[in-house]
Amino acid sequence: MAKLNIVSVIGARPQFVKAAIVSKALREAGMHEIVVHSGQHYDHAMSGQFLEDLGIEIDANLEVGSGSHAVQTAQVMTKFEAYLEGLETPADAVIVYGDTNSTIATALVAAKVHIPIVHVEAGLRSYNKAMPEEVNRVVTDHLSQILFCSSQEGRANLAKEGVTEGVFVTGDVMLDAFQHFSGRIQYGAIAERVLGAPRTGFILMTLHRPSNTDDPRVLPRLKMFLERVDHPVIWPVHPRFRKAVDAAGLPEHVHLIDPVGYFQMLDLLNGCDHVITDSGGLQKEAYWARRSCITLREETEWVETLQGNWNVLANLDDDVPGLLERTPSTNWIPLYGHGTACATITKLLLENVKSRA
Ligand code: UD1
Repeated sequence: MAKLNIVSVIGARPQFVKAAIVSKALREAGMHEIVVHSGQHYDHAMSGQFLEDLGIEIDANLEVGSGSHAVQTAQVMTKFEAYLEGLETPADAVIVYGDTNSTIATALVAAKVHIPIVHVEAGLRSYNKAMPEEVNRVVTDHLSQILFCSSQEGRANLAKEGVTEGVFVTGDVMLDAFQHFSGRIQYGAIAERVLGAPRTGFILMTLHRPSNTDDPRVLPRLKMFLERVDHPVIWPVHPRFRKAVDAAGLPEHVHLIDPVGYFQMLDLLNGCDHVITDSGGLQKEAYWARRSCITLREETEWVETLQGNWNVLANLDDDVPGLLERTPSTNWIPLYGHGTACATITKLLLENVKSRA
């Protein structure tokens, strides 16, 4: 049987984590995989560090960098189309991950040249079209031939939109990564560096959604919110937000650091008591690490994490001590599978993708 030729597309932090663990499984199953990095994330802390830690070797970097949504998306499309056209052996499928501009751009290109699209993390919905990620998700799902969902919720969301063919619930590949890489962490290293002593019991915070970073009304309210927090906070700040955050004069117990790699993030997660975030991936990772999470958004795609009070949606005017002191349910149930999503995905690809060779 001819080897499957797969082109995998990555571009932004969470995609490096997802692709690392899926690629390992694809290669072990004997597939030929080409990894294309769009260049959406390019800072060492946002990209190179992850590629090194996770052992990802990229075959091409389209080097698109930052830009408005239209510019960034258009540049990925133009460069990816040329890249696909130049391949000696045509791709049997293009794998795209999640909901970034790199995802939608490369899915659009593959659709027009009739290469089957495989969407990992399909069917997620916030039902908030003001989020760029929601637009990216909906379009990508409707262009894809094979859709891998992290939970039944994803399948149900797709069915509401009439997408029922090629849909599989596989569990979440980030759980595979979480389990696989947890053994490699140097626990306590970052907190010791940042807080000056080995310690746990701090809060890990991240914010990067445009609704939080691009609205000038948010920072003054965030400052008041953080003044009501009586634990040290370690906040790896996304570069898009750093200048404004530095200028905000946040309280001394808030420790700002540069973005951290995946292993460092798992270290911080392990040491913290609570997570405050607007990231999708971190809501799930907090749940798997059994840390309570406050999500500073009006809605979440990862609705299952809200069960048992492990994750709560909050706004900056909410009662912070009350949120931090709440007790999540002792009945912690596994969510998003059991860490076998990559094995299921590999099997399904072998069954459902045809070699053109
Ligand atoms: C993107 C994704 C988001 C994902 C996140 C993970 C979209 C629409 N958003 O958001 O879904 O959760 O990545 O981090 O695709 N910047 C740098 N260095 C970098 C990258 C970005 O300084 O390496 C700055 C630039 O000012 C840039 C801004 O961050 O304009 C936004 O970057 P962009 O890649 O457009 O979106 P993210 O906010 O990272």
